[in-house]
Amino acid sequence: MKVLAIAGSLREQSFNRGLIRAAQALAPAGMEIIAADISDIPLYNGDDDGDNRPAPVTALAEQVKAADALLFATPEYNYSIPGVLKNAIDWLSRVPGGIFAGKPAAIMGASMGGMGSSRSQYHLRQILVGLDAYLLKKPEVFVSSAHEKCDEQGNLTDDKTQSLIADQLVALQAWSAHFS
Ligand code: FNR
Repeated sequence: MKVLAIAGSLREQSFNRGLIRAAQALAPAGMEIIAADISDIPLYNGDDDGDNRPAPVTALAEQVKAADALLFATPEYNYSIPGVLKNAIDWLSRVPGGIFAGKPAAIMGASMGGMGSSRSQYHLRQILVGLDAYLLKKPEVFVSSAHEKCDEQGNLTDDKTQSLIADQLVALQAWSAHFS
């Protein structure tokens, strides 16, 4: 199965992008995780939507359509998801055909605080439920104090978190099988 992973951070040394790299390395047999790039997605402007939709949005939408499942890794910005991630989802939500509908999805996330991005993850879950994605419930992956669990490049070094991500990927694989 093909999983498209979308990080809510553009930062080169992002802990959340590091979680996605860890997931790529930890993916179970039969799962390939492709990291999406949302850095070229412009700010949403309804005047540019429809036939004028920007090429990076169309390209990302095609990746979402082609994926068997989605994996989000989101930081927490002011108790919610970063604007770059919401902006990308807003664009994608306008693509005809409801491309999130029926798509299995899992959420993980890292923050430097003690809440491990849990508040933003629940906001993201609400948004994706509104788009009819099929959200994996557990295990949840809340990576608190991310700066202590990742190196300076944002690579995940913590064994327990790696194990939790591996468990989540196995659960996502089983969850997705219900809908294929
Ligand atoms: C943050 N950060 C943060 N952390 C948290 O636990 N709760 C929060 O509400 C916020 N709010 C917040 C707002 C803004 C604008 C920034 C830039 C940062 C800290 C954040 O979790 C930390 O910078 C993470 O390292 C960001 O994720 P990446 O970029 O490492 O993936």
